[in-house]
Amino acid sequence: MKKITVLGSLNADTILHIPHLPQQGETLAMDDASTAPGGKGANQAVAAKRLGADVNFIGAVGDDQNGQLLLDALQADGIDTAHVAELSGVATGAAYIMLEADSNNTILILGGANRQVNESNVAAADATIKASDVLIAQFETPMVATLSAFKAAKAADVMTVLNPAPATKDIPAELLALTDLVVPNETEAEIITGIPVTDDLSMESAAKRLQEMGAKNVIITVGERGSYFHMADGENGFVPALKVKAVDTTAAGDTFIGALTTKLDADMRNVEDAVRFANAAAAITVQGAGAQPSIPTLDQVNASRG
Ligand code: RIB
Ligand code: NA
Repeated sequence: MKKITVLGSLNADTILHIPHLPQQGETLAMDDASTAPGGKGANQAVAAKRLGADVNFIGAVGDDQNGQLLLDALQADGIDTAHVAELSGVATGAAYIMLEADSNNTILILGGANRQVNESNVAAADATIKASDVLIAQFETPMVATLSAFKAAKAADVMTVLNPAPATKDIPAELLALTDLVVPNETEAEIITGIPVTDDLSMESAAKRLQEMGAKNVIITVGERGSYFHMADGENGFVPALKVKAVDTTAAGDTFIGALTTKLDADMRNVEDAVRFANAAAAITVQGAGAQPSIPTLDQVNASRG
């Protein structure tokens, strides 16, 4: 079984179901409000586990009710949480998701305990990282922790996957040089490279720019359109997404990352297959409400592919 370690965030998601985004100064009635376990890191871990990987998580929660809820959620999925720190006097990470009737979402993040993940948490998990096939990280936990985890991974020839979300222009060159595969969405790709990703040509330009910046292999997801891959040797292609009716796209990108990583061989030769599988998994996530509750199992993905 593939061993995947995820370094990342755990958030208690509050989902505000609204007809549309309010205007400044407007008072707007919501249709509903609900909660679900989320956080980009935790969602990616859940996706990888449900789709067949053996998963360890490195992160932090506060010693509050949300922290317990999120730990319980990972453990219920069978994810190893030995390296999730429980910090006293710090609030567990939270996300406030404004979900519009047309299924678009806007997210506000309160970092909380996620912001406290540091190099010593990574050092404590050194053996776990080095015994993994793949390490995945995002940007909801501090860059210093990601950098030290990627160093540990590459010292043991572990594949590194970076989901640069939420995007920042200031990714250390050192981190990209340690990245085997970077997977931004089109917005993140634009923020990082300065190249607006609008069509096939700009996808290729942005991917090449990411390679110039140090990343070896690049996959850019473009929402309901599909995903573009551009590998170290120049091999590239576009895999269209499945056409489905979206209810809540939250965690679709995370499902894509977890699924892709679980399916991708060490030599990445099966990238097109892995992207197809990840597209199918993400298509199920968009049809369900809430982050982790909407992430499919392997049986569900297989059944959907006929
Ligand atoms: O990617 C989706 C996730 O982003 C949500 O679960 C929310 O917690 C935010 O981190
Ligand atoms: Na969803």
